Amino acid sequence: MFEISKELEWVNDTFNTAKSSGVFKAVAEDGSYDGHKLVLNGKEVVFFGNCSYMGLDQDMEVRQAAKDAIDKYGCYFSSSRSFMGLDIFEQMEEKLEQMFEQPVNVTTSTTFAHISNLPLLIGKKDVVIIDHLVHSSLQTALKICTADGIHTEIIRHSRLDLLEDRIKALKETHHRIWYMIDGVYSMMGDGAPMKELEQLMNTYEQFYVYADDAHGTSWTGKNGSGYVMNEIKYHAKLFMGLSMSKGFGIGGGLMIYPDKETKELVKNLGKTMIFSGPPHPSVVMSAIKAAEIQMRPQFADLQLDLKRKIEYFWKKATQLNLPISGNFKTPIFFIGAGTTENIINIAAHLIETGSFVNVCSYPSVPMKNTGLRMTLSRFITYADIDNLLENMNLAMTILEAQGKLDREKVKKAFSPKELRKAEKV
Ligand SMILES: Cc1ncc(COP(=O)(O)O)c(C=O)c1O
Repeated sequence: MFEISKELEWVNDTFNTAKSSGVFKAVAEDGSYDGHKLVLNGKEVVFFGNCSYMGLDQDMEVRQAAKDAIDKYGCYFSSSRSFMGLDIFEQMEEKLEQMFEQPVNVTTSTTFAHISNLPLLIGKKDVVIIDHLVHSSLQTALKICTADGIHTEIIRHSRLDLLEDRIKALKETHHRIWYMIDGVYSMMGDGAPMKELEQLMNTYEQFYVYADDAHGTSWTGKNGSGYVMNEIKYHAKLFMGLSMSKGFGIGGGLMIYPDKETKELVKNLGKTMIFSGPPHPSVVMSAIKAAEIQMRPQFADLQLDLKRKIEYFWKKATQLNLPISGNFKTPIFFIGAGTTENIINIAAHLIETGSFVNVCSYPSVPMKNTGLRMTLSRFITYADIDNLLENMNLAMTILEAQGKLDREKVKKAFSPKELRKAEKV
């Protein structure tokens, strides 16, 4: 065994304990999947970890498009697009540009989108400020820039007061000041304060925003354009990485730009645009179909239907006095439970009673914010939500009687004020 740091050893041990309890790194059985239920240890459970929020992965038209693509083009087109591409790659970009009403590039993952974007967008004289809860994929891509000597600073979560102080301090010595955020944060489900950021972009000429809206894509915004583009009108100093692997339901990454020139620059010179393969033909044809579906007027009704379930979940969790984090209305929910032992205990009880949720402890969330993460896809029913939350309340009541949980203390650790102080790194 390699020697690893004490911190990694602790994380590894925690992962192994959760895995042996059957609540982490679970493997579904039964050889099929319908987007709603899974079979675990011979027992059917409702899948509260599905990030394909709109169920497009299961849509019959999208599935057929993927099958047709394989019949027409085979399983893969093995060449960098720098040398040769298929006409459907260009058709996909055109369709996505109609959907987002902005210039778009496509990669095989959001991580690859960041790796192509950041080294080209961030200049030698720029400075980067990152929100400390920003997704790991952005932090990984940023390391390419820091290796090139770009100055980087970390700032407490969504603390725009501190951000503005840093903008004022850095604007004399640097060219552009970039702020890196998630549109919807993948663990706690809170949205970035876009309206305030828009104001900062308007006030400070050198201030730019780079947003990863992987979890905002599809379930909200006109044509499924996402959280960020629903909050503000597209800004000339806003750059984004989005995902086709969550609400979009088909796999892959997207890059959205304020202008055609930057799109073409990254398409020509982005590291993963040159040195990595193109998306699979089945993904390309299903992306075209999924984009068409998202542009139909009926898609807004599906978004509304999910938003009603989101409201219902919030209301019910609050009525049951569960320690739910924040007050954002997104399909990601986080309920604190104090300790790793508690989350494993509650998650095991939930599997027994028919629900699968995600157990989350450090390093995916700050130390003080251990808890359970749940996502809502459109397949989840109101009865599923009732069953999940009532059983969670029951498991928590038992832990309280055993003196292992204090809901009020946990709630305090999840107050917006405390979350903004919580350290992950
Ligand atoms: C906010 C966010 N950004 C990026 C990613 C990485 O996406 P990909 O697997 O497409 O690289 C994830 C993955 O879950 C994510 O939650």
